[in-house]
Amino acid sequence: MAKFHLITYGCQMNEYDSERVAGLLREESWELTSDQAEADLILVNTCAIREKAEDKVFSKLGELRLLKAQKPELVIGVMGCMAQLHQHAIQRRAPSVDLVFGSPAIARVAELVDRVRRERRPVLETGEGPLVKITTRPPAAGRLREFVTVMEGCEKHCTFCVVPQTRGRERSHPPDVIVDEVRRLAAEGCREVTLLGQTVNAYGRDLTPRTDLGELFARVGEIEDIARIRFTTSNPYNLTPKLIRAMRDVPKVCEYFHLPLQSGSNDVLARMNRGYTRERYLELVAEIRDAVPEMAFSTDLIVGFPGETEADFEQTLEMVETVGYDNVFVFRYSRRPGTPAATMPDQVADDVKARRNLRLLDAATRVGAERSGRLAGQTVEVLVDGRSKKNAGELSGRTRCNRVVNFDGQGSASVGDLTPVNIDQVLPHSLRGTLASQPEEAACLSK
Ligand code: SAH
Ligand code: F3S
Repeated sequence: MAKFHLITYGCQMNEYDSERVAGLLREESWELTSDQAEADLILVNTCAIREKAEDKVFSKLGELRLLKAQKPELVIGVMGCMAQLHQHAIQRRAPSVDLVFGSPAIARVAELVDRVRRERRPVLETGEGPLVKITTRPPAAGRLREFVTVMEGCEKHCTFCVVPQTRGRERSHPPDVIVDEVRRLAAEGCREVTLLGQTVNAYGRDLTPRTDLGELFARVGEIEDIARIRFTTSNPYNLTPKLIRAMRDVPKVCEYFHLPLQSGSNDVLARMNRGYTRERYLELVAEIRDAVPEMAFSTDLIVGFPGETEADFEQTLEMVETVGYDNVFVFRYSRRPGTPAATMPDQVADDVKARRNLRLLDAATRVGAERSGRLAGQTVEVLVDGRSKKNAGELSGRTRCNRVVNFDGQGSASVGDLTPVNIDQVLPHSLRGTLASQPEEAACLSK
């Protein structure tokens, strides 16, 4: 049986796509191998969000070229965002690549590989295609936590971002199809599902009949074996009171909200074309906390966007304190081809970006630690997902606010259980606790 090896870079959506590709290839009698040296086909699923991500892919392709020199019949394919963005340019820069295809062609992966093997010439397939929901997965997948793509693409056109070019128009999958997929996952043992979309809170507005993420929460929430629902990523611009009510009213929706801010300066936000101001963002945070007081927030921030002054940056720092994020992802601005910000004046020097990055991370770490410090002494609901990494005698799981908790299961808790745990100790990257006896105490009281 011919063997394939998959290398995945980038976001959860790429992980999800890679699994589907693995499922599809297995249906066509391909066997997955974790050893690239024994593969007949190597597929690299790529990310184009920042230049560094692309550099990693090109250096991997350089390494694979050496492998191909020893094994000329090896087929090397590139899929995902770089495929869509750079198309021909990939094969020009990495001539050992035989196949380049974008996300719309994923459903036809086996056929495309056959074509390369039959015709012995490079194949490029990066056109727009119909929206196909691929739900095939490798049979052994069955995991406690799963991701489900509910919509593709993005039409927000933030001026720094390449996603609208790489992932195309915004298209939602119909709720029935998503519910079916989650049901199947639940039957295989999944307890927690994360609904994925680039602007997931815009879900459903392109469907007939129109629907929204709140309605999807309710539908998914009815699936008995699913204990928790998460979702990512939301854009503040599309956040509606109806969605806030759904977060409050659907009990399985966890109190963890990833709400990218990008910058705390209104000037920068305007140049980013984000569609909100810092005041509007704070108003939303207040509305959400009003509805769900225990909500934990995380965010994405960019430092060194063109024209960002020291004063702009200070405003971003200030927002980290004001909102009180549990978790912050900081990115140094990276010029992306074809995006409006790439040609804006006053590009910021690398050393300035590096300095701001560090300062922001410092502040974020301090604020995050304060937030987790509040959990000390609380009883929280933990979804047990395995053994502790450091001590196999202990169990490990996550709170609703997505923090790792290690605790002694005392033989009465097992993987897949929702169990109350008293938090005894707050460590920098995890919590330690003991099993609580009163299940009804379980609630993530403060994140
Ligand atoms: N809608 C998705 C966007 C994916 S990109 C989401 O909000 O998660 C993830 C993050 O990467 C963005 O929120 C942004 O902070 C960062 N990012 C996107 N383009 C970037 C660029 N050109 N330079 C630096 N960071 C960028
Ligand atoms: Fe990118 Fe903005 Fe969409 S960050 S994915 S264009 S919401």
